[in-house]
Amino acid sequence: MTSDNPLLPVGEAEAAAPDDGLMMDVLASQYRLSALAVADRLGLFAALAERPSSAAALASDRGLHPHGTEVLLNALAAQGLLVVHGDAYHPTATARAFLLPGTARYWAPMLALGWDERCTAVRTLVAEGTPYGYRGKGIWDTHNRSRHHGELFARAMHAHSAGPAAALAARLDLSGCTSLLEVGGGVGTYALALAGRNPRLTAQVLDLPVVERQAVRLIEDSGLTGRVRLRAGDMFGEPWPVEQDRVLLADVLSDWDDEGCRTLLGRARKALAPDGRLLIHQVLLDDSRHGSDAAAGYSLALAVMTGGRLRTLPELASLLAESGFGECVAAPTYGLYSLITVRGD
Ligand SMILES: C[S@@+](CC[C@H](N)C(=O)[O-])C[C@H]1O[C@@H](n2cnc3c(N)ncnc32)[C@H](O)[C@@H]1O
Repeated sequence: MTSDNPLLPVGEAEAAAPDDGLMMDVLASQYRLSALAVADRLGLFAALAERPSSAAALASDRGLHPHGTEVLLNALAAQGLLVVHGDAYHPTATARAFLLPGTARYWAPMLALGWDERCTAVRTLVAEGTPYGYRGKGIWDTHNRSRHHGELFARAMHAHSAGPAAALAARLDLSGCTSLLEVGGGVGTYALALAGRNPRLTAQVLDLPVVERQAVRLIEDSGLTGRVRLRAGDMFGEPWPVEQDRVLLADVLSDWDDEGCRTLLGRARKALAPDGRLLIHQVLLDDSRHGSDAAAGYSLALAVMTGGRLRTLPELASLLAESGFGECVAAPTYGLYSLITVRGD
């Protein structure tokens, strides 16, 4: 990793516009009550008060899943309910005052009144290590089978990604590039923003067939037919076009476990032209993993819905190195988002 910044300075208009920080806070806050209620129901505050432990040790002692437990504990730490010394999680003074069963001010029964399906989803992740998706059914399989669910999600992602995509396109100079492959690109939000700013660029968007109807309409409405094209297919099964100047993974690696990420990164490397670069645009976790309530809550939401999670920059750098990439460069772009750039050769 180096500190070189591949981005242009922020323009005046972008600097003056609000980012989506508040929206991301609200999105992630959906998981605040569930994180607390699940930790209470699984007896985690009492266990950590008696013996502060690492996530792995706590999971092993209580028969929980290590990955789900770690994501949950970081969300609770980011909320101010746990504090971390070394790798051991301790309840904070607030958690000791209100969240220890049998004490006079034990508050959790009030919060437990809010138990809902999201709490069940978080408990499933922590107890079994499996994503809950849609009522226990996998998110992408559900989209493949139900156009309704798939199109709702694609529209939601377009709404969520419009700000980060525009911010990236305003600052990333692709004037020397002619080809971009966006993998897991949804309805083409990023590809359209980048092609709109770079007249020589032709972009292909690889995503599941369910996005096709909305993507085609959006490409037409943007006046970029012929320069932005959807390739409907399975990014794990279909061959990817090669000799690409840029491959973009925006909010994609955070949907997959390490093995899924390595597969995608290996395929990305093979798709790049000799001087090409892989671009990763997503929210990064700070190195502690619990410095931001919104990021730690978003990571919990991703784990519950998709089985993925957010990662720190060193974690991403090590996945990149395992996939044959060299040193990566990271630069903040918008809200919680960063661009990670790495050469393919
Ligand atoms: C979190 S969304 C990101 C969408 C877009 N990159 C953005 O940032 O708005 C993840 C995308 O991966 C796509 N996806 C999931 N599994 C896929 C697969 N096997 N093949 C192709 N696309 C897939 C989903 O349909 C979805 O559009």
